[in-house]
Amino acid sequence: MSIVYLNGEYMPMSEAKISPMDRGFLFGDGIYEVIPSYDGKLVGFAPHIERMDQGLSFIDIELDYSIDTWRDICETLIEKNGGGNQGIYLHVSRGTDSKRFHAYPDNIAPTVYAFSFEIAPAPKPEKGTVKQYKVSSTQDLRWKRCNIKSTALLGNVMHFQQGYEAGNNEIILYNANDEMTEGSACNAYIVKDGTVITPPLDHQILPGITRLMLLDILRKDGSIKVEERAVTMDEVRNADEIWLTSSSKEIAPVVELDGTPVGDGKVGDVWEQAQRLYSAGKYDY
Ligand code: PDD
Repeated sequence: MSIVYLNGEYMPMSEAKISPMDRGFLFGDGIYEVIPSYDGKLVGFAPHIERMDQGLSFIDIELDYSIDTWRDICETLIEKNGGGNQGIYLHVSRGTDSKRFHAYPDNIAPTVYAFSFEIAPAPKPEKGTVKQYKVSSTQDLRWKRCNIKSTALLGNVMHFQQGYEAGNNEIILYNANDEMTEGSACNAYIVKDGTVITPPLDHQILPGITRLMLLDILRKDGSIKVEERAVTMDEVRNADEIWLTSSSKEIAPVVELDGTPVGDGKVGDVWEQAQRLYSAGKYDY
C-alpha cells in the first residue's frame, strides 16, 4: 500500500481524501511537479522546486513551504515507499471553497498532495537497450500559457490520446506557423549535421527541467553544438535525429514520425553521446 502526503500528514493512499469543492477538482486550479529519483537520489530537485514556486506565483497561490520542507516530503515518501527508483508527484491546488465561483477566493488554504510511484531505471547510453519512440504530429491546440505547469492538462491529455490511438508513444505539436512547440508531455529537439536544436523558452512550451539540465550539460561539455531557435516542421521531417525529454524519459530517441523513419530510422550517435553526458551530470543540479 503506498503512503502519500496530504496537507502535513502521511497516510495510506486509500485514506487520502479531499473535498469535491477543491478548486483543483472543479477548475484544474493548481500547479504540479514530477521529480525523478534513482536509488533514493533526487534528480534536479532545486530547479524543480524553483519552477513550482514560480508557477504558484504566476497564479497567485501563496504557500509557505520552504525548499527544505519539500525535500523532507520527497525523501520521506521515497523512504516510506521502499526506496529504489521512484517518481515524486507534487500537487498544490488553490484549496477548497464553499461555492463554485471563478474569482480567486480570499483566505482559503492551498491543498498540498504528494505521492510517489515506481519508475523504470534511467536509460543507459546504449543504442541497443534504449526505448525507441514512435510519434505522431498535430497542430498544438492548447492554451497560450504553456510555460505554467498547471494541473489543468486536458489539452495535453487530448493530444497524447491522439498519438496513443494512432499506435504511437507521443505526439509532436506545432503552432500555426508550422513551428514545432513540444510534445504533449515532453520537450522536443532535432539534431541536424551534429547540432542539437530546440525551440526557445516562451509561452508555447514548458520550461522543462530535463531540458534545462541537458542544455547546460551539453554547453559545459562543448563537444555538441546547441541552438535554441524556432524549428519548422520541414526541418523536423528532414532531421537526422529527433529527441524528446522529460523527467521520466530523460532523453528519448524518436525513430519514426507519422509512420516515416527519422533519419536512417535508427537511434543516433548524437543521442548516445548526449545521454552519456546527461547520465554523468544529472545529479549535479
Ligand atoms: N511532463 N512539456 C510538457 C508539456 C510536459 O508535461 C513535461 C513534463 C515536459 C518536460 O518537463 P520536465 O523535463 O521538467 O519533466 C515538457 C511530466 C513529466 C508529466 O506531466 O508527467
